[in-house]
Amino acid sequence: MTNILPRQLDDLGLTLPPIGQGTMGIGGYYEKDCTRDAEWIAGLRRGIDLGLTLIDTAEVYGAGHSEELVGRAIKEVRDEVFLVGKFSAEHSRVSQVIAAAERSLRRLGTDRIDLYQPHWPNPSVPFEETAEALEILVQSGKVRFVGLSNFSFHEVQKATAILNPMPVRLVQQEYNLIDRTIEEQLLTHCEATQTIILAYSPFLQGKMVPGDARKTILDDLAKKYERTVAQIILAWLLREERVVVIPKGSTGTHVEEFAAVKDFCLAPEDIHRISGAYSPRISWIPVSQISVRGGGYTTYEEALTNPLGFDPSPLDLAQSILMGNMLKPVKVTQELAEDAYTLTEGKIRFWAWVLAYERRSLIPAFVEKCPERQGQNFESEAQAGGSIQQSAMNHSAWMRKKVVCA
Ligand SMILES: NC(=O)c1ccc[n+]([C@@H]2O[C@H](COP(=O)([O-])OP(=O)(O)OC[C@H]3O[C@@H](n4cnc5c(N)ncnc54)[C@H](OP(=O)(O)O)[C@@H]3O)[C@@H](O)[C@H]2O)c1
Repeated sequence: MTNILPRQLDDLGLTLPPIGQGTMGIGGYYEKDCTRDAEWIAGLRRGIDLGLTLIDTAEVYGAGHSEELVGRAIKEVRDEVFLVGKFSAEHSRVSQVIAAAERSLRRLGTDRIDLYQPHWPNPSVPFEETAEALEILVQSGKVRFVGLSNFSFHEVQKATAILNPMPVRLVQQEYNLIDRTIEEQLLTHCEATQTIILAYSPFLQGKMVPGDARKTILDDLAKKYERTVAQIILAWLLREERVVVIPKGSTGTHVEEFAAVKDFCLAPEDIHRISGAYSPRISWIPVSQISVRGGGYTTYEEALTNPLGFDPSPLDLAQSILMGNMLKPVKVTQELAEDAYTLTEGKIRFWAWVLAYERRSLIPAFVEKCPERQGQNFESEAQAGGSIQQSAMNHSAWMRKKVVCA
């Protein structure tokens, strides 16, 4: 049984571990949380000791506290670590990018970030401006390489051309048992251009697997390989040689579980079994059937007027979507009633889509069943299919899908 090999970018002189460490939630999610600092630092250090030397963080995580903890964890071993940082979309102008980088370097207690990425694209700022700032940072040695996070395939192509001659050889996107959008186009592009994908949320942000009967396949394989389901999932994602996974583990135990994945590979027939069972389920759902709750915007009018001042605004993103830049489907849960869904992820994307295509449109969504529905047939599968990138790109094709709902 062969091992999962390090990822090479020979021309850049980089060898990266196939498994890194995510830090969203370490030091808080979007607010500072100091309650478990010692445990979090110990977890990160344990990971580094075990070879998980790529660490992904962002200025927004824990309102900067994540970077502080990463800084403390890597202090004595800075040269062993490949440090990945991200600046927020609202900091996309030249002076903002540079100021964000300076703040992050201070919190990280280092003189350089190995890979620096816009966390999300900001269509309200010409990318040329962001690129100018990144070039200044690279020339000053404060940033070694530039990456792109959450850029659609077309945005990656456009941004890469603008950044040229700076190489863009690492891009970051979600990749897990539900969201396999990268397989549509980006992965092929990455194979052709020797680019690596930093695959985030491999465990669906802790949910681990979609809530349905397919999990028995993973349980069977966990038994067969004497591994955990988490390890089987990572091994399946890592079947793609251009992928580096960045799971987040707050505890030494979880981190040890990640590290042990390097030592085994799934047999081709088992990879095939998982790939087949978890083939993407993109459904086109009338937006009028989707309830939106919680923080942020819950109505069309709020999304339109943007009272919270989001930058980019939902309207900016709507224009970008009309140009073919829908990154990925939103996530919804199908409720007990046949035609009722609740939005579980992608709120800004949802409203941007509604502003782009109006309230009587269909939106591409990954659909899960509510717990009471699990075990029943998956009704949405009948309408499932299609590619988010192709459909969003081709507006006229989308128009044919448009329905008028009462
Ligand atoms: N670029 C972006 O927009 C973006 C978006 C999301 C994430 N990311 C990056 O990707 C990283 C990973 O994604 P994520 O944090 O969304 O979620 P994830 O890695 O999919 O899941 C993390 C969750 O899984 C739990 N977990 C870890 N190992 C486990 C195991 N063996 N058994 C059971 N549960 C386990 C963790 O619990 P414990 O914490 O208790 O260990 C944590 O709650 C982030 O931390 C961040 O660095 C980037």
